[in-house]
Amino acid sequence: MSSPSSLLKQLGLTGAGSPLSGRHLLLILLAAGFLALTVFVVHPNEFRIQAFFSGSNCSRPNTNTDAAAFVAPPAKPPSSASPSHAAAAPAPVPGDDVRILIGIQTLPSKRERRDLLRTVYSLQLREHPSLAGRVDVRFVFCNVTSPDDAVFVALEIMLHGDIIVLDCAENMDNGKTYTFFSTAARAFADNPYDYVMKADDDTYLRLPALAASLGGASRVDAYYGLQMPCDRENFYPFPPFMSGMGYALSWDLVAWVASSDLARREQDGPEDMWTGRWFNLARKAKNRYDNAPRMYNYKGSSPDSCFRHGFVPDTIAVHMLKDDARWAETLAYFNATAGIPRAGELYHLPPLAGRP
Ligand SMILES: *[C@@H]1O[C@H](CO)[C@@H](O)[C@H](O)[C@H]1NC(C)=O
Ligand SMILES: *[C@@H]1O[C@H](CO)[C@@H](O)[C@H](O)[C@H]1NC(C)=O
Ligand SMILES: *[C@@H]1O[C@H](CO)[C@@H](O)[C@H](O)[C@H]1NC(C)=O
Repeated sequence: MSSPSSLLKQLGLTGAGSPLSGRHLLLILLAAGFLALTVFVVHPNEFRIQAFFSGSNCSRPNTNTDAAAFVAPPAKPPSSASPSHAAAAPAPVPGDDVRILIGIQTLPSKRERRDLLRTVYSLQLREHPSLAGRVDVRFVFCNVTSPDDAVFVALEIMLHGDIIVLDCAENMDNGKTYTFFSTAARAFADNPYDYVMKADDDTYLRLPALAASLGGASRVDAYYGLQMPCDRENFYPFPPFMSGMGYALSWDLVAWVASSDLARREQDGPEDMWTGRWFNLARKAKNRYDNAPRMYNYKGSSPDSCFRHGFVPDTIAVHMLKDDARWAETLAYFNATAGIPRAGELYHLPPLAGRP
């Protein structure tokens, strides 16, 4: 039997592109279901599933069963940060000073998407000036390999200064996440953020909602996002992790990732799922915040699920905005265009998408 990670690779999870999300996640979960079936039903003695989740030679107390190693602390909505957690950590302070670095994972060639995201987030910050200077949105990719892209990226850096080029080769499952967090830990060591968030370039974030929510969360040992699998019955035994649509780590966890032998050694694998796996193995991230149903996938014509539903007003993030039509509908729903008169001296517009 081939190793589980090569099984994942065979499912097409290794191409360049944005990290684990949506369809990839589904494929991985299907693969997991298949694996679990194979292990537990078909070949109960031929393969120990623990090997898959426990990694190669991770140092882990041997007093526990392998399964116990994956009992992550229960995730909770940020507003319910419990006193018991507050006792272990400094009490959360009100969120009006929380500092967040958001690294949007993208590719050098996706200039048009960056242009849209810059516009969207600049307008949000303009509308909420108290966030400017506290919420920094950056675009993140590995080494630029095309000389043409190098010219265009250089121009963007000159004008916007919002690009981080990691020392890595563009990849999907070979450690870009590890490189991102460890690079952030080093680059901002002198002036750390409270949280570093990794987000997809097909995710729409509502920065005020995000900042308010994170402001009420613990500043230490915190792992914040949309927890997967959200359907525990069907997707056992996947280790809990936060969806790649966007998740934030408190600074101490970012620093831990950068210094952890475990994370360095175990960086190749399905991105984002492996982030959860590091914390599970190392018994880190005691404060987990599952933001369902405020973080979710765009619904479209798909049926509702625990990670996908229609728009809701108190949304923090919508994921799977793969094309212009979805972006337009989403931005219209959230009133991103509300400030503009329908017609002016020099322009006129048809009714907006998604609006009567
Ligand atoms: C685990 O450690 C043993 C002994 O140190 C070594 O022989 C083996 O190759 C290691 N396995 C992996 C997957 O690294
Ligand atoms: C990325 O680019 C830097 C600078 O040119 C180079 O030193 C490094 O080896 C490259 N890394 C990879 C993984 O290609
Ligand atoms: C958008 O604006 C309309 C009209 O003012 C309002 O009824 C609606 O609640 C707003 N939607 C959101 C998501 O804030």
